[in-house]
Amino acid sequence: MNKVDVLLGLQWGDEGKGKVIDVLTPDYDVVTRFQGGPNAGHTLEFDGQKYVLRSIPSGIFQGDKVNVIGNGVVLDPALFKAEAEALSASGHDLTQRLYISKKAHLIMPTHRVLDAANEAAKGAAKVGTTGKGIGPTYTDKVSRNGLRVGDILHGFEQKYAAAKARHESILKGMNYTDYDITQAEKEWMDGIEYLKRFKLIDSEHYINQLIEEGKSILCEGAQGTMLDVDFGSYPFVTSSNTICAGACTGLGVAPNRIGDVYGIIKAYCTRVGSGPFPTELFDATGDALCNKGHEFGSVTGRKRRCGWIDLVALKYAVMINGVTKLIMMKSDVLDDFDTIKACVAYEVDGETIDYFPYELSDKVKPVYKELPGWKTDMTSMKKESEFPQAFNDYIDFLEDELNVPIKIVSVGPDREQTIVRYLPE
Ligand code: GDP
Ligand code: IMO
Ligand code: MG
Repeated sequence: MNKVDVLLGLQWGDEGKGKVIDVLTPDYDVVTRFQGGPNAGHTLEFDGQKYVLRSIPSGIFQGDKVNVIGNGVVLDPALFKAEAEALSASGHDLTQRLYISKKAHLIMPTHRVLDAANEAAKGAAKVGTTGKGIGPTYTDKVSRNGLRVGDILHGFEQKYAAAKARHESILKGMNYTDYDITQAEKEWMDGIEYLKRFKLIDSEHYINQLIEEGKSILCEGAQGTMLDVDFGSYPFVTSSNTICAGACTGLGVAPNRIGDVYGIIKAYCTRVGSGPFPTELFDATGDALCNKGHEFGSVTGRKRRCGWIDLVALKYAVMINGVTKLIMMKSDVLDDFDTIKACVAYEVDGETIDYFPYELSDKVKPVYKELPGWKTDMTSMKKESEFPQAFNDYIDFLEDELNVPIKIVSVGPDREQTIVRYLPE
């Protein structure tokens, strides 16, 4: 039976999903996003150029492959227009090969205001969202008040006005009235018109037809498993299911049609925004990871919090997603370290646990295993046989702990800095 493959992040996002999607796209006919929205920032580098994609799938640079924005995505038409126009200006016209689900929900200007208002109301307990209106848009979807892309084709003005009035009344109730969306609304309406240039489709039919025809499909996740609304570090999460099951609901793909699940990990760990992060480092080592890894948000520019790899959380992510192959990114960032640490258990109230607990409270302390660093510049390596022994040992250790093979190793941001490992079938 023909199946679709899913690629997703196993940590708190920014693992390098965009780069890997671009690298794998030549093996597929179609690439599709299934959840999230412009809270994502997926970076690709090739031919000395760097692109950051937010709503548009990362398969658009390899030939003229069709890319699909699925029903599980939330779309901001103004940001989408800016993104697509910038790509068009750099020679990548997408109107004929980017399809958008009519069932994807629209992020309205007032959703962004609501995002800010919700954060302000939470005060010190704020989530540290990207401010893109993600939470309020998914809230409207689930409470059956949302606007969908398909709505722009019929009687849209009334639907928009009703939704906006609803938001305004919520904001008034929150005493949050000091905002002005005049300019944002104008750009948004331009974005709505711009959307009509694209193929707006029932993407579940399209995708299932492709599956029947034997076509190969790669599903691109956004955010990461630790930001999943059900299984992540709730409430410090995003508002969608970032896990593999999200590809089923976000595209209309049946569970028995899921093939390989590629789990993307950094060789260490980062997080942006608030919330628990047991292996976070507040010392010079953390600064070194941040500087060497250029760990600043691709959307917000915020400094990413850095720490060692967390195998307790990763085992959980492997389980929830049914990961079949791992892809390890940014191993070059560890090239200079004498010693590398990996969290193999948590200590909670004096007790050692090796499973992911209900809550990652401040009481959760990492228990580390130390491994020797490889102290070798790996950035220009091209094949597995060049790997230093200490690096192979790190890989063996991770594979043993996670019980999943590492198929690809990334040694730099460029498309070319990618090494596929030989795995016996
Ligand atoms: P995504 O959201 O998962 O697509 O990841 P981001 O693009 O937000 O963040 C990953 C960052 O790491 C980007 O700046 C990439 O260019 C960069 N990157 C990806 N792979 C590597 C790698 O192997 N080494 C280094 N040094 N940088 C990488
Ligand atoms: P990619 O796809 C890293 C984080 C935010 C915040 C929380 C909720 O590039 O990996 P939201 O705006 O979604 O309501 O914010 O989730 N967050 C991300 N962190 N990478 C992302 O996407 C993220 N998208 C959201 O920082 O903590
Ligand atoms: Mg990112």
